[in-house]
Amino acid sequence: MFFHLFRYLAGCIIGATLYLALLRVIASIARRNAVQKYRCQAPAAYPHKDPFFGLDSVRDAICAAKARSSIARQIHQYAQYGSTFSSKFFTTPVISTIEPENVKAVLSTHFEDYSVGSRRKEAFFPLLGRSIFQVDGPQWKHSRHLLQSCFARDQVDDLQVLDVHVSKLINALPTNGAMVDLGDWFPRLTADVTTACFFGHTIDSLGNDSLSFGAEFVKAIHDAQDGCEERWKIGVFAKVVPQREFYRNVKRIHDFMDQHIETAIASFNSSSRISKDNKAQQDRHVFLHDLREVTDDRQVLRDELLTIFIASVDTSAAVLTNLFFVLAKRPDIWQLLRNEVAPLSGGKPDIDQLQSMRYHQYCLKESLRLHPIALSNSRTAYKDTILPRGGGADYQSPVFVAKGTMVAFGIAAMHRSKSLWGEDADEFRPERWGNEKQSWKFIPFNGGPRVCIGERFAMNLTTYTLVRLVQSFHSLESQDDGDWVEGAHLACTSHNGAKVILRAS
Ligand code: HEM
Repeated sequence: MFFHLFRYLAGCIIGATLYLALLRVIASIARRNAVQKYRCQAPAAYPHKDPFFGLDSVRDAICAAKARSSIARQIHQYAQYGSTFSSKFFTTPVISTIEPENVKAVLSTHFEDYSVGSRRKEAFFPLLGRSIFQVDGPQWKHSRHLLQSCFARDQVDDLQVLDVHVSKLINALPTNGAMVDLGDWFPRLTADVTTACFFGHTIDSLGNDSLSFGAEFVKAIHDAQDGCEERWKIGVFAKVVPQREFYRNVKRIHDFMDQHIETAIASFNSSSRISKDNKAQQDRHVFLHDLREVTDDRQVLRDELLTIFIASVDTSAAVLTNLFFVLAKRPDIWQLLRNEVAPLSGGKPDIDQLQSMRYHQYCLKESLRLHPIALSNSRTAYKDTILPRGGGADYQSPVFVAKGTMVAFGIAAMHRSKSLWGEDADEFRPERWGNEKQSWKFIPFNGGPRVCIGERFAMNLTTYTLVRLVQSFHSLESQDDGDWVEGAHLACTSHNGAKVILRAS
């Protein structure tokens, strides 16, 4: 009896092993055929000191982030190993690239071949759960569809709500020659606008006298995002490294969000008492309310809302802070901006006027080029696929991408590549945008089906804020002698903020 059982089990194990071996042989034949068919060549290889897990590279990345030199490291790597090279990230094979054609393939033409990757999902799971940012395939399509109505043009082009909060900001800023760090104020503006537009109830941090209002929450958000990034970097070790402070921050944030959601729902439920003043706000699609029509599950509400909050607040504030850091040192550009708003004679722009402010938009794009908010991004291949460029000695041959490979793109390095942008790629020169066309070498909002859903909202928010500040202050003087230094947070913002003196018009 025992012997028969043993024979049966041994047969099963041998059968399974043979079956797996056969699958491997079939896969490797298919790979060899694909490599031949598309004339793929291997990209340059990163010279790892640790060829098994690539830990040397992980350690270097962590050190560079701490030294605020991630951008310099990225540029140096592509200069040294070429525009596409292979490396290791723990057990995962990685192909890094700054070839616009490859970026287009990953994000658009071969979109279905890639996922956002299990590493990112695991790293952000405690904070964001299974929100739009965290899922692929049908689940992602469902989330994206849910969000769509709130990002329709008539919604995001409505400047009324924006104006309430930008006006509050302008009134709050000192004009008596006192120094102010705009890097402290922009996150309050973007938090107020985001909660007003998407939660239907603003946290009104600008309406509160104390600068410390919400500071604990904002700090918890920053720390938790840093924690997620750390988890991403240490990969599998995240499961064993104790992260008590990270989980404490996550709890703080979730408690705050739950409380805010309840308040927003209560205020929505009492909509019969809407005053006329609130009518414009109530006529908008409010994401929280739309979402509630579909689900009452508080965890789903929190995951999606927190994702919108994080995706919107720090990113938009970072763009403004980075831009004002530069503008404060460039009175020539400030004057050109002043010239562009002059025809408004102090009046507030409507959406058509806003979108015709070419020079304002050039400045924002130039800021996003030189100081992108996401310095890099990646996708993981769901199945064997091909990158169109990067192989061979001249980097021009297609590259075979095996299932499970991570394709990383160095956004900061690509945005500053001299071969893509010209010799003045390191300079802040808004005029360049007069000759630039839409292309895959500029991806501050990603691209393809998964392009940032808030792009138009963010551009309206930042352009409107810029226009109104340019109208309100005739000069802006930097109080910082140094160069722009990268911040170490997920949304890359000026480490030293934007310390300025403003003079009213
Ligand atoms: C200037 C500010 C912003 C920048 C630079 C930015 C950048 C990005 C980038 C690079 C992605 C792609 C992430 C990825 O898939 O790996 C993304 C996705 C996303 N962004 Fe933005 N974003 C900004 C503002 C906003 C705003 C204002 C909102 C919402 C109000 C928003 C909501 C989202 C959402 C929900 C996604 C996920 C989309 C999806 O996976 O389908 N973003 N953003």
